[in-house]
Parts: sequence; C-alpha cells; structure tokens
Amino acid sequence: MNLVNPEAIHRALSRWPEVDAENLQAYDAADRLLLEHASRRLDRLAAEGLSDPGLVVIGDRYGAITLPLLAGSPEGGGAPVSTLRIWQDLATGEAALDANAARLGISGFTRIRDDETSAGLYGPALLAGARLVLLRLPKNLAELAELSEAIAEHAHPEVVVLAAGMVKHMTRSMNEVLGADFGSVTASLAKGKARVLTASSPRPQEDTPGGQLAGTPAGGRSSQSFPARERHTGLGRDGDLEIEVYAHGAVFAGAKVDIGTRFLLDFLPRMPKVRTAIDLGCGSGVLATLLAASQPEVRVAACDVSAAAVRSARLTAEAHGVGDRVLAVHADALEGFPPASAELILLNPPFHLGHSVHAGAAIKLFRAAAEVLAPGGELWTVWNSHLGYLPALEKFVGATEIVGRNSKFTVTRTRRRAAKPA
Ligand SMILES: C[S@@+](CC[C@H](N)C(=O)[O-])C[C@H]1O[C@@H](n2cnc3c(N)ncnc32)[C@H](O)[C@@H]1O
Repeated sequence: MNLVNPEAIHRALSRWPEVDAENLQAYDAADRLLLEHASRRLDRLAAEGLSDPGLVVIGDRYGAITLPLLAGSPEGGGAPVSTLRIWQDLATGEAALDANAARLGISGFTRIRDDETSAGLYGPALLAGARLVLLRLPKNLAELAELSEAIAEHAHPEVVVLAAGMVKHMTRSMNEVLGADFGSVTASLAKGKARVLTASSPRPQEDTPGGQLAGTPAGGRSSQSFPARERHTGLGRDGDLEIEVYAHGAVFAGAKVDIGTRFLLDFLPRMPKVRTAIDLGCGSGVLATLLAASQPEVRVAACDVSAAAVRSARLTAEAHGVGDRVLAVHADALEGFPPASAELILLNPPFHLGHSVHAGAAIKLFRAAAEVLAPGGELWTVWNSHLGYLPALEKFVGATEIVGRNSKFTVTRTRRRAAKPA
C-alpha cells in the first residue's frame, strides 16, 4: 500500500488540546513502524483478494496512524483502506485526532464510543469482523489484557494484531499478556527504538490459560475478567467506610484505592454539605461514590478524560446504591460544565501525561476547577507533598489552607476567590 507521504502528515499534527510542551510531539517512531508493518499487511491481504479487512485502530493518540492510512485510501488517491474503525480512550485524543483530520482535510474513519450496549468496554461494534487491528501498546498491562481478550473474543478468527511501542516502554510481560489470548506472538526487530509485536491465532476465550494479572479478579482470565472488582473496608478517618470498586483495565490504580485517595477520604466529614459537587479525574469513582453516600442531598458529577474510567465510576456508584446521584461524564478537564456551577470539587490530580511526568496536567485541572466552582466554593485536593502545588492553587483558584499532611501527602482546601482567577 502506497501511503501518501506519512512524514508530511506527521509533521503537520498537533497535540492540541493536550497540554503541549517542547519534549512532547504528536508522533513517534512506533507510529511510523506500525504504519510500515500495516501497509505491508494490507498489501498482502489485498493480494489475497481481501480489499476490506475491517481495519481497526486502537489507541492512536493524535491521528499519526489513522490519518496517513486514510490519506492513502481510494478517496485520498492511494490504495485500499475503505472502512476504518477507531477507539480512543482519552477525550483529549478524540479532540486532537478530529482537529488534525479537519485541518488536513482527511475523513473516512468511524469512531466507536462506549455505548454500554456491550457487556465489555470493547465490544462487537468496534471489533466484529476485524481481520487487522493496529494497536498502540498501552503502558498499563491490565488495559492490554482487556483489549487482548476482547479482540480474541469479538474479531474475525483470522485476525492479526500489530501492536507497536517504543522499546523503552515495552516489557516481556506484554508478549505474555497477548500470548494468553493468541497462539502466536512474535516481535519485530527494533527500528528507530520502536518495535512491533504481531499476534495471531486467537484462542477461543474459554480455553485461555488462567494467569492472574494484578488488578484482575481471582479465577484467571476469561472474557469476564473485566471490569476488575475489589471490596475495601476500613476506609475514612474512623475506618467505617467500605466500598466495592469496579475498574476497567485502563483505570488508574485498577480496583485498588490509591493511597492519596485514602488520605483525602479521611477528610470527608470536614467537607461542606452541598447539593452540587464534582469528582474531577474520577478514575474508578471512589471519591464520587463515597461523597454521595456521605451526603444524601448531593448530586455528584464524576468526570474523567478516560472512557474506561467513566464506565468504571458508573459501575462503582451503581453497586454502592448511589448511581442515581452520580453522573459519570467523559470530558477533558471540565469542558461543557457551566461556569460557577459547583459548590465543591474533589481532586486527586494526575501527574503524568502519557509516559512523561508533567505538572501541566494538574494545573490544567486547577484552572478548570476555578472556572466551574461558584465563588466561595471549595476545591479539596490531595497531592504528593514534594510536588509543591500550593502556589499554583493560590494563583489559579484562591486562598489555600493545608488541612492535613502525612509522611507523603498534603490535603488542601482552596476557596474559589470572588474575582475571576488568573
Ligand atoms: C491520580 S488519578 C485519580 C483517580 C481517582 N480520583 C482516584 O482517586 O482513584 C487522576 C485521574 O485524572 C484523570 N485525568 C487526567 N487528566 C484529565 C483531564 N484533563 N480531564 C479529566 N480527567 C483527567 C485520569 O484519567 C485519572 O483517572
């Protein structure tokens, strides 16, 4: 397949609306190597008379995989991609790919979103009939396991998965995870510090070996391995809170309760009694659920940039009996939330962007909180003390008081100032 100048497309890509920084670009050698392997595979399938292999692209971050493939399609003047389904976990990735596609005048992909009609996160709408799946290897093994199981279960029996990553982010465990669901997993030679794993011969799901992965439920892997589910007791200042946490593979901390989150839960009784609250960056929904349980009048929006988190938070809240007062929302920061509409926001901020540690991810959420909090409303945040977020909270939101500190974490209460923040 003759790709129409992927380098030119790559150079034109932007990461917007993700936080940009000089060391973070919108494509890498793994995207390029994946395209090379994909175009060879598409040629081979076309030579076998298969012009539409039901191509699926999963985890394309900004369009570096999808857009060159479509530019090389018949509409773009090149060879064979006629249908292409994509799945992106992050709302920022969706927005970036859409913006890049619009700017470059490239169309033709079908985005599959979580419509909750499938028991799993990745269902037949995404995968049915797929003979070729292109995957950016996620850094999280549980996410890879969930994807691998779903592809083996729903895609065509002759599906081939090409999974690419940068060598520095790849581990042998990734081969093992794919090997639980596929009879053959091989690794390419490294090129430009990237590598592609090729998985084929999906195993029938009832035959998969029962290797237990961290964060997956007991009983080995099967198509029911996800969402993971774990019960936690002894939470909160008085040790009287408990919760059953549901988590799809891509969720931060899986079905565990993060230690920073545990510390913030100690302060639930000190938080103001309100009617409108937000769990910003909700993950599996622990904070939203236990806040809703502790305040019968409150309605909580549980918002996360990750689709896997949003579905998990909904499940956690429903299992706890507060699903009618917890609304799970897939959005970047608090996009779409009316200004000055919330009385209380809880936040355990992210400190990563992909593989890079980056304070910009937290600052973006502080600014979003300032916009959406009503004047006088409160932002309760927990952070690793060495990150020193106090000045940023004061600058972007308002007067900030340290309400708790342990050996690792600080919990702060920030009152949204009346005047518009910086
Ligand atoms: C440290 S985790 C906390 C998760 C959860 N609140 C908990 O306590 O377990 C941070 C969460 O923020 C989410 N996140 C990161 N950037 C975001 C953004 N721009 N908008 C919304 N959520 C975001 C991540 O997906 C992740 O779930």
